[in-house]
Amino acid sequence: MNRINITNDLSFSRIVYGMWRLGDDEDTSVGHVQAKIEACLTQGITTMDQADIYGGYEAEEVLGNALKAAPALKDQIEIVTKCDIVAPMGRYADARVKYYDTSRAHILASVDHSLRLMDIDKIDTLLIHRPDPMMDHHETGATLDEVVASGKVRSVGVSNFKLHDWTLLQSAMKTPLITNQIELSLTAHQGFTNGDVAYLQERGVPIMAWSPLGGGSLMTSAGAAQDALAKVAADHGVDNAAVAVAWLLAHPANIMPVMGTNNLNRINTLSDAFKVSMDRQTWFELYTAALGTEVP
Ligand SMILES: NC(=O)c1ccc[n+]([C@@H]2O[C@H](COP(=O)([O-])OP(=O)(O)OC[C@H]3O[C@@H](n4cnc5c(N)ncnc54)[C@H](OP(=O)(O)O)[C@@H]3O)[C@@H](O)[C@H]2O)c1
Repeated sequence: MNRINITNDLSFSRIVYGMWRLGDDEDTSVGHVQAKIEACLTQGITTMDQADIYGGYEAEEVLGNALKAAPALKDQIEIVTKCDIVAPMGRYADARVKYYDTSRAHILASVDHSLRLMDIDKIDTLLIHRPDPMMDHHETGATLDEVVASGKVRSVGVSNFKLHDWTLLQSAMKTPLITNQIELSLTAHQGFTNGDVAYLQERGVPIMAWSPLGGGSLMTSAGAAQDALAKVAADHGVDNAAVAVAWLLAHPANIMPVMGTNNLNRINTLSDAFKVSMDRQTWFELYTAALGTEVP
């Protein structure tokens, strides 16, 4: 599997495995989590996407338990995690409202929680999960620089940021933001035309695409996009999901799809996306089907 250079000494696998749904799996045993990671590694998928809030602030620990039992896995994977969403559950059960916290105190505490829960001594990439309308960019920017300087975090980025959020935060930082994780798929394709992809492409910043299968809706519902996917899938001997992922991989902006399946059989075929050759007209056939109309 090809890789994307993130910094001088950090790269991500082109396909990333997301752990939002890790706790939803009926089997969250150490052995099963390890089996999922091994299935990824076999295909060259080494980058794992986490967030403090996943699984009600418990998914990081589910991963951590697996890593504690098989410490050798730690050197074979890169871990991305996120902070700033505070929801009234788990360790924040006392919160009166769901809110975002990009203060120094919250980021530092989140980093320490993530390190402890995942049983690691360094986070490869820390993302600010959602733009915070109360963000003091000087405080947040300095704190992100601080966690990198401390050695607890190797690189920092953001998620769901618009261009103005990105430039505001970056203007107060020494460390370059290395990615923006945004929703991108055949069901959420607006980013390709509203500037979200363009500003990152212009800066040469690789993009992490969350819910690349529309959170599963692309696989479970019927429609023109599904028909178009099925046609390309049949031509290549792969399933519809592989084509939906190939559609993102084909874009020149260095998009890294973050896959969320808990199903071991599906995990085993995540790299099938690379079997699909996606020429421009095929890309537009799928895009047209998703739009429901030909491009103007
Ligand atoms: N930064 C953010 O704000 C943000 C937001 C959302 C997600 N994320 C990240 O993105 C990752 C992926 O998100 P996602 O889980 O929504 O991605 P996804 O890959 O679009 O959707 C995964 C869902 O689709 C289902 N699915 C996959 N293939 C299927 C098939 N062939 N037939 C039926 N169902 C199928 C899966 O069910 P099975 O498990 O049964 O296969 C799972 O429920 C998350 O884990 C997280 O790391 C980030």
